[in-house]
Amino acid sequence: MATLNNILRGSLLALPWLAWLFLIDILISLLLPLLPIVPDICYNVSSACAESVWYWIQIIFTRANGAKITVSGDIIPYGESAIVVANHVAWCDFYMIQELAVRAGMLSRCRYFAKTQLRWVPFLGWGLWALGMPLVSRRWDKDKKELDRVFSGIVDRKWPTWLISFSEATRFTPAKYAASMTWCARNDRPQPQHLLYPRTKGFVTTVQHLRKTSNVKAVYDLAIAYTKGEQFRCPPSMWQTLSEPSLTEEKGYCFHVHARRFPLNELPMTDEGLAKWLETCWVEKGEWLEEKRVEWLAHGKKYE
Ligand SMILES: *[C@@H]1O[C@H](CO)[C@@H](O)[C@H](O)[C@H]1NC(C)=O
Repeated sequence: MATLNNILRGSLLALPWLAWLFLIDILISLLLPLLPIVPDICYNVSSACAESVWYWIQIIFTRANGAKITVSGDIIPYGESAIVVANHVAWCDFYMIQELAVRAGMLSRCRYFAKTQLRWVPFLGWGLWALGMPLVSRRWDKDKKELDRVFSGIVDRKWPTWLISFSEATRFTPAKYAASMTWCARNDRPQPQHLLYPRTKGFVTTVQHLRKTSNVKAVYDLAIAYTKGEQFRCPPSMWQTLSEPSLTEEKGYCFHVHARRFPLNELPMTDEGLAKWLETCWVEKGEWLEEKRVEWLAHGKKYE
C-alpha cells in the first residue's frame, strides 16, 4: 500500500515538473539561433528559465518530502562567481549544491560540466548547450574548442557563473574505489578516504583560464555526505527523492554539504602546483567525511 501511495505521490509531484522541464527545454533550445546576436540577453533568459526548473525540484525534495539539508563550513558570499568542485555520490548531490546556490543567490547561474554526447539529445541536450554548460569528452585535447566557448562567456562577457564539476568524473562505487586504490598505490599518490582520486586536468585548465578575469574570485570545495540511520553514503535514489513522503531526520536521513572557500589568487600558479592542491583538497575532504561518518555512527542508534 505504501509503495502504491508513493508511486501515485511521486507521479503527481514529478509529472507537472517534467512537463515544465520539457517546455523550458524547448524554449531554451529556441534561443540557440539568437545566441550569436544577443548573447547577454540569451544568457539571462536561459538562466531564469533554468532556475525555475531547478528551484521547483528543490522544493519537491525539501518542502514536499521533508528533506533537511545541513550546510556547514565557510560563508559563501552572495552573488559571487566561482569554480565549484565536489565529490559525486548520486543524483541527490544536485540538491546539496543547489541548496548552497539558492542561499548565495546563484541558482540560475549554475553550470555543470556534462558529457559531450548529450549535445545530440533533442531539446534536453540542446538546452544544456544553450545554457552554456561545458559539454566535454574529458579528452582535453579534443575539448579545447568547447572550453574556449564556455570560458569566453565568463571571461570576456563577465557572465556570473558557478562552474561546477565533480572532479572524480564519475559516481563513487566500491569497485571504482578499489581501482582508485590500486592506481594510487602504483603511482605513489595518497588515496583519499571515501573518495576516488580526483582527475586534475580539467580543474587545472579551468583555474588557469578563469584566474585571468577579475569576475571569478574563488574556488569552492564541497564535501557531500549522507546517512540513513547507520548506513553511511546511502542517499535516496532520484525516484525516491521525488516520491518518498518522509525523507526526514526522524526517519534517520541526514543530508550534509560542507563548503570551503579559497580565494583564487591564493592558489598555486603552476599546473603541477594546482594538481597537487586538488589532491590535498581531496585528502582533507576524505578526512572530513570520515569524521562525519564516525559522528553519525555514534548517533545512529537513536534511529529506528
Ligand atoms: C543580465 O542580468 C544581470 C544580472 O541580473 C544584469 O546586470 C545585466 O544587465 C543583464 N543583461 C542584460 C543584457 O539584460
